[in-house]
Amino acid sequence: MVDSWVNAAERIGVDLHLELSGLSGPGGRRAALTRALREAVRGGRLAPGTRLPPYRSLAADLGVARNTVADAYAELVAEGWLTARQGSGTRVADRARPLRHAVQSPVVAPPRARGPLFDLRPGTPDVSEFPRAAWSASYRRALQRAPSEVFGPADPAGRPELREALTEYLARARGVRTEPGRIVICSGFAHALRLLFGAGTLGPGVLRGPLAVEAYGLDFHRGLLADAGVRTVPLPLDEEGARVERLGRERGVLLTPAHQFPTGGPLHARRRTTAIDWARARGTVVLEDDYDGEFRYDRRPVGAVQGLDPEHVMYLGSVSKSLSPALRLGWMVLPERYVDGVLAAKGEREAWTSVTDQLGLADFLTSGAYDRHVRRMRQRYRARRDRLVEALAARAPDVEVTGVAAGLHAVLRLPPGTERPTVEAAVRRGLALEGLAGFRHPDTDMPPRDGLVVGYATPAEHAYGAALDALCGVLP
Ligand SMILES: Cc1ncc(COP(=O)(O)O)c(C=O)c1O
Repeated sequence: MVDSWVNAAERIGVDLHLELSGLSGPGGRRAALTRALREAVRGGRLAPGTRLPPYRSLAADLGVARNTVADAYAELVAEGWLTARQGSGTRVADRARPLRHAVQSPVVAPPRARGPLFDLRPGTPDVSEFPRAAWSASYRRALQRAPSEVFGPADPAGRPELREALTEYLARARGVRTEPGRIVICSGFAHALRLLFGAGTLGPGVLRGPLAVEAYGLDFHRGLLADAGVRTVPLPLDEEGARVERLGRERGVLLTPAHQFPTGGPLHARRRTTAIDWARARGTVVLEDDYDGEFRYDRRPVGAVQGLDPEHVMYLGSVSKSLSPALRLGWMVLPERYVDGVLAAKGEREAWTSVTDQLGLADFLTSGAYDRHVRRMRQRYRARRDRLVEALAARAPDVEVTGVAAGLHAVLRLPPGTERPTVEAAVRRGLALEGLAGFRHPDTDMPPRDGLVVGYATPAEHAYGAALDALCGVLP
């Protein structure tokens, strides 16, 4: 322990006694000094408003480096014990109260609802693999380069850097034909639906119902449409995807052509053309939800339908599967005639997506980090998909697995009448699963199918084996 009286009276009028204990502990001198100062403030020995010695003099008095003092002060400013203001130096905060938990205060975690032990529901990527370092590097570069105008009110179309980067990326990776002026940035697919059909304060939107949708799909999206007053008309599905030859007098069709959600297959080439022909004849559009098009394992990627006719397809994508659903970043690639209407729906200024996030994503794309991340995750998800298929072949050979060529989920077909008891048995074992029934459009005339939609991306790597064991343990 080093006891030191810091006599700084001539310069700042305080004598400061600090007990620097634990100098060889983690963080060394900086941690010891931070601790000592914090204790002095917390214990009331340093009164609110007291001016602390300048870095140089305290460093000299204690025999430590100037940076050591600067770092300790900075940490205590961040915690709320000290304040630093240009011209008046560093002082004890007026009502020194920690803004975040101080190191020594006991941290009591707030009570949390207990979630499932294992989660094999579809929808979320493996968020433990979020590319923190590469994302931070992109973000930092983007901020350093950004002109000052970036921090003012923003254009609702989105940053030009991002729209240019997406134009190049989507053409190369997904076969999308566009130019930056046709892209409008949004906060994801759900936001795109709200903008297109209008809801709440967004006005009437640019499209009207009724809208044809796939007989199995996300209930959440159907709910958004219903909230906007849009009637949805279900198209049955077979092994070639949605039966688009059934399209009639609807005013648009929403499809997941690369990988039907949730049943899994791609839309057959002939049906892609049929959907486009219908949209041309009706003077309307196909809404293409390309939610996980990057993740295809066994065959060449299925390109976007948009590439067939950019004037009759609205292509909608987001980073929710490829990076994280928390970023809330997405894009709409629009036929020219809809651009103004969508921009009008967004309002005069960008109100949804952070411009700095947009710039970060632009750098992430142009630096190649996005491709690297997707390639790495593709390998990882493919390996998980293989483990799922192998585990089922060994332990539940009667269960048919479909929709495994792409995406982050598979469908396990079950004998009639067994879906519900299986999901319930899983819940009892702490395993969250979703059955096909939850995705079924209430008005479809398709015979119901029993099955499980198993998302194999969500568990962290170390928990995946145990999650598979739990799954195999509840299958009929
Ligand atoms: C079918 C489908 N479409 C789109 C999305 C993306 O939605 P969002 O961009 O609003 O997160 C998801 C979920 O990630 C999805 O499951």
